[in-house]
Amino acid sequence: MKKTLIYAHRGASKIAPENTLPAYQLASESGADGLEIDVQLTKDRVPVIIHDESVHRTTNGTGFVQDYTLEQMKKLDAGSWFSTNFSDCSILTLDEFLCWFQPLSMVLNVELKTNVIEYKDIELIVYNALKHHQMLDRTVLSSFNLNSITKIHDIDPNVQTAFLTSTKRYNLEKFAKHHGASSLHVKYRLLDKRLVKQCHSISMPIRVYTVNRPLYMQKCFKLRCDGIFTDVPHEAVEYRQKF
Ligand code: G3P
Repeated sequence: MKKTLIYAHRGASKIAPENTLPAYQLASESGADGLEIDVQLTKDRVPVIIHDESVHRTTNGTGFVQDYTLEQMKKLDAGSWFSTNFSDCSILTLDEFLCWFQPLSMVLNVELKTNVIEYKDIELIVYNALKHHQMLDRTVLSSFNLNSITKIHDIDPNVQTAFLTSTKRYNLEKFAKHHGASSLHVKYRLLDKRLVKQCHSISMPIRVYTVNRPLYMQKCFKLRCDGIFTDVPHEAVEYRQKF
């Protein structure tokens, strides 16, 4: 029986600043199967790894990612908000991340952050970066924005895509498939036996976010979900071993 894969959500983001190299290094040492990253574009259209559309929560800067050049963005401190131990952290470019990640034997989830700002051509830019680093066969590209899913599917129908949602909907899996998604990423509150069964009946993997509590981990493992996203990969790996 296939095990539920554990993806570190923004890295080991409970013990290091999210979406930074230390968070990803710690996650890679945790025994997690995969990492999750959030991608947006700078003003000069470089893909960078950051979750929010504005930089103020996770750096010492203010304003929007899309208004920073890469050079300006690289000067931001992306670690001190979490702890002074991480004051030397900077925002990673997708290319820097992929250079580090490629030799590891892990899988990857790239979330295209296009639900608030629709960065022009981000889908093709990210696709080309993944192709360049020979990462397409172990990456799933996800988004809350169905346009992004459809665009990726049109660029390359063989790439794994996932529709991200926190909203209940009749025949959710068929809706996602209709828009070019090959898998479904749902908020943990949406998870039930029926949804897993419906997804698996059309050979669609279902993964669940953000699963930090043992009770929810247990539910995901028991229902044979294909993956979970967690801020605490060390705990999830340990819990899965006992399960
Ligand atoms: O991809 C799973 C999860 O990251 C989606 O939610 O808000 O963290 O982007 P969010």
